[in-house]
Amino acid sequence: MSNRTFTMIKPDAMKNGHAGAILDRIIKEGFRVVSLKLTKLSAEKAGEFYAVHKERPFFGELVEFMSSGPIIAAILEKDDAVASFRTLIGATNPAQAAEGTIRKLFATSVGENAVHGSDSDENAAIEGSFFFSGLEKF
Ligand code: RTP
Ligand code: MG
Repeated sequence: MSNRTFTMIKPDAMKNGHAGAILDRIIKEGFRVVSLKLTKLSAEKAGEFYAVHKERPFFGELVEFMSSGPIIAAILEKDDAVASFRTLIGATNPAQAAEGTIRKLFATSVGENAVHGSDSDENAAIEGSFFFSGLEKF
């Protein structure tokens, strides 16, 4: 169990004006911000980030959506960060997400689901380093 995870506020939540509320919620839930940036993924970079899904039927849509507008990327720290953050964001499909979770509150569909959360300690480290250099991790 590691104490870091990685998140993105996805283009839908950015466009819908939810970025501030989502960051506020994350911080109030006790996550410390280790790294933070506003950026935009090219289709190529989005494909690289989600390469694990490249054989899935939704891959094209996912790449198109994730490169459709700016995102906020962040590394977060808390005890049991990966599992704790997945609980806070809720199920992939907002229709199945628990009450009060970030996806229940702010996501619109399974494809456009407001936030990303790493699914393992190993991927949290890989994903954090995809966006941030050692000098950008505090
Ligand atoms: P994420 O990686 O973004 O945190 O989401 P997740 O673990 O909850 O879900 P995952 O299975 O890793 O899927 C990655 C993203 O692909 C999109 N997706 N679309 N149309 C569909 O059926 C479908 N299924 C997945 C979602 O944006 C999902 O977050
Ligand atoms: Mg995932």
